[in-house]
Amino acid sequence: MKAVILAGGDGTRLHPLTLVTNKHLLPVYNKPVIYYAIEKLAAAGVDKIMVVTSPRQVEHFVNLLGSGQNFKSKNTGKQTQIVYGIQNEPRGIAEGLWIAKDYISNDNCVLYLGDNIVEDDIGEHVANFKDGATIFLKKVEDPVRFGVASVDKMGNVLEIEEKPKNPKSNLAVVGVYIYDNSVFNKMTGQPKSARGEYEITYVNNKYIEEGTLKSVLLKKDWFDVGTSESLFAAGNFMRNKISRLES
Ligand code: TTP
Repeated sequence: MKAVILAGGDGTRLHPLTLVTNKHLLPVYNKPVIYYAIEKLAAAGVDKIMVVTSPRQVEHFVNLLGSGQNFKSKNTGKQTQIVYGIQNEPRGIAEGLWIAKDYISNDNCVLYLGDNIVEDDIGEHVANFKDGATIFLKKVEDPVRFGVASVDKMGNVLEIEEKPKNPKSNLAVVGVYIYDNSVFNKMTGQPKSARGEYEITYVNNKYIEEGTLKSVLLKKDWFDVGTSESLFAAGNFMRNKISRLES
């Protein structure tokens, strides 16, 4: 299975931190944000990753990550091979994935939003993935800020609502998705949303229509470091985690 890490976007909620650099290059305690995504995928046995970012910032990622020589895939012990895709303008998460279409070719793929830090191991879900799509959910106290999923007892996703005023559950949709190869067909002819973006919710809804969108509930911590508050919380968490491991 290949993976696509999205590391574009404007990062406006982090201004002025992201006026001259990219959100995914900022530090979370002792590592840049994007390291957490790459390490999570490598630990899940993924050894081929496309990092999609803006033309202005791609050279910084190349300088930092090179061809992936500092990361090893768990399954194969092989170096994780990193290549780069360019998103000229941040026109949405689905567009970011579309850029990797030829790279993914006939494979299945993990789409990983690079500003997400997931503490659970996702390896078994990558290894056991067969078809349809799998999303990851996390119980939150303030679901109104997130995409919120309704699921049945088997974990099949029935509905996803974006930032609902009256959420039907407290299950937030995490920025990590596993798609079978039909994902690109589902995006063909996709319109832009009212806010002018190619939304990933449109793609997930296509899987819901087919009855093939499954979910996994994450048990450990999850951070989406899109705000200075969550960036700080993630850094603090990692600092405490490392001190615990060292003591
Ligand atoms: P967002 O946090 O939704 O957008 P952003 O990073 O531009 O931040 P802000 O809302 O503060 O302006 O993006 C989620 C993730 O997806 C993040 O890792 C950036 C990435 N992304 C892209 O790579 N391309 C895109 O077109 C968009 C919208 C997001």
